[in-house]
Amino acid sequence: MGAELRRKLVVGNWKMNGSRQTVRALLGAVGARSKTLGCEVVVCPPFVYLDLCDVVLSATDIALGAQDISEHASGARTGDVSATMLADFHCRYVLLGHSERRTCHGECDDTVARKALQAVAAGLSPIVCVGETREERQTGRTYEVLSRQTGVVADALADGGHLMSLTVAYEPVWAIGSGVTATASVAQDAHAFIRQCLARYSATASQRVRILYGGSMKPDNAAELLAMPDIDGGLIGGASLDAQQFLSIVDAAAGLEAVQQETEPSRTSSFTLP
Ligand code: 13P
Repeated sequence: MGAELRRKLVVGNWKMNGSRQTVRALLGAVGARSKTLGCEVVVCPPFVYLDLCDVVLSATDIALGAQDISEHASGARTGDVSATMLADFHCRYVLLGHSERRTCHGECDDTVARKALQAVAAGLSPIVCVGETREERQTGRTYEVLSRQTGVVADALADGGHLMSLTVAYEPVWAIGSGVTATASVAQDAHAFIRQCLARYSATASQRVRILYGGSMKPDNAAELLAMPDIDGGLIGGASLDAQQFLSIVDAAAGLEAVQQETEPSRTSSFTLP
């Protein structure tokens, strides 16, 4: 069991960008290729464009995701959006715990875990972002951070038997929007470590849960990153706003998926926890 069981997944996180006009143009360009994608593709627009995206993408193979949800089910929570509302708009995925939410909105691991539980209760697959800051890496705390961030969510989901619906995105904070990408070996090392963290909860789930890389993934570095045995796809920020760049990353993932399906046995590496 291993990499061959995990379909490559490329997710575009549009963050707080776009207008009705640019969203239509982007959807048109990406949607035009949707029948020949060769791997799983998801876009996560801002909430206000979900309806527009839902209408356009319903005729394509591209799935819809959102960028966040409330940790509560409903009620007097001005400005918040619930998981069931997203399901109502045919969202299948939701990003949780992005470093921009952790930093700008003070979200802690427990908040992220509560949101993950809301997501699975509404039938959404949570894509939980984890990753160390530059300072944490430089002071040798990368594994500690990844273990804690992954563990709190895995704990919550494993309890209800929902671990299989999890996707993890390793996004080193120092690589987000910086143009500095983790090298393939640095990223692979972190991904293998995260997979071992998941194995504490379920060996089967650890082999099936997809772990995406995010942080300045671009057409010119995607293939090398995506070829790593524990990198199952990408969470793309800036490059997802440009249809050509996004599709060229999708092509890189699809090409590797085709090769992977022909390759036996699994190339998933082993990793010894420190
Ligand atoms: P960039 O691809 O712009 O570095 O953003 C990564 C990211 O934060 C995706 O969630």
